[in-house]
Amino acid sequence: MPTGSEALLEEFDRQLARLDLMGHWRGVPRQREAPPNRAQLWKWDDIYPNLIRAGEIVDLAYSDRRTLQLVTPGLNRTSPNTQMSIQLVKPGEVATAHRHMFAATRFIVQGENAYTTVDGEPLSLSAGDYVTTPSWCWHDHANESDQPIIWLDVHDNPFVGGALGVRFSEQFAHPTQPFTQAAGTYHDLMGIVRPPNRRQHPAHQPAGYPWKEVRPALERAAAEGQSDPCDGVVLDYVNPITGGHLLPTLGARIQMLLPRVRTQPHRHTSYTIYHVVEGEGVTVVGDKRFEWNKGDCFTVPNWQWHAHEQRGSAPAMLFSAHDQPILEAFDLYREEREES
Ligand SMILES: [Fe+2]
Ligand SMILES: [Fe+2]
Repeated sequence: MPTGSEALLEEFDRQLARLDLMGHWRGVPRQREAPPNRAQLWKWDDIYPNLIRAGEIVDLAYSDRRTLQLVTPGLNRTSPNTQMSIQLVKPGEVATAHRHMFAATRFIVQGENAYTTVDGEPLSLSAGDYVTTPSWCWHDHANESDQPIIWLDVHDNPFVGGALGVRFSEQFAHPTQPFTQAAGTYHDLMGIVRPPNRRQHPAHQPAGYPWKEVRPALERAAAEGQSDPCDGVVLDYVNPITGGHLLPTLGARIQMLLPRVRTQPHRHTSYTIYHVVEGEGVTVVGDKRFEWNKGDCFTVPNWQWHAHEQRGSAPAMLFSAHDQPILEAFDLYREEREES
């Protein structure tokens, strides 16, 4: 320290602190440390019985949403910008109507023929389907089937409510919304024609991605040999209006790892949350190794090298959600691939 003693500097720091000021020399880490590898695995064998238990002891009158949130130690959420939770709606139950600034999406894990109503339109929910509830859209969920329905709730509240501090929400005046649009209206609006007065802001256009259309598209891509060295056969869920990411703050993919596939390691500045739809395999994330099978969830933090390996005789199918749209919006998205 060429200009003064440590004691002198500490006294100066105390003077600054009394004025709510801090010298840059106190904010700089003394040594460069690699960020901790926060990659995390949640086994379906731990999630499922506890979700069913929640169904026995947590009434929807007590908590309007019955979810188990995936919480990464040290983060208090699943990932910095994106949260994944697992929701259960039992037969005959209604999760009441509300809306909020954060946008949510639902990927159905189990169950048939329940529905969510988004801004007046009922959207059917069956295993493998994926639906979006963009920011500030009214939504309620009803299960009129005779089976429980379970889905992944994936939303951007860590970014919208946390980082940006935009936390508004509102309860609808009644438990459910009236149906103001026929089922299929949004789907039709996504098509090649639409009424001129129905041009909506893309962020507020709900969309549904039926499994019966997505899965054949994935199988077609596999049959055509479309494969990424780092992700296998992979498709983005696309915003039908913009052709870009699903939502301004949230992207999602479906990918298939064919038998004996081992992907090439890469890393990127986006943070990804995976859910195993089918099959089994292994993912190595930095110094961690996750063996996964159907129903498991795991994370790949930003800038951690990772690679997937399929196991067993059947292809593995992975759903994933990520914050790449946020990083791209601020020109912060980077990817690096290991030389093969
Ligand atoms: Fe909600
Ligand atoms: Fe990746």
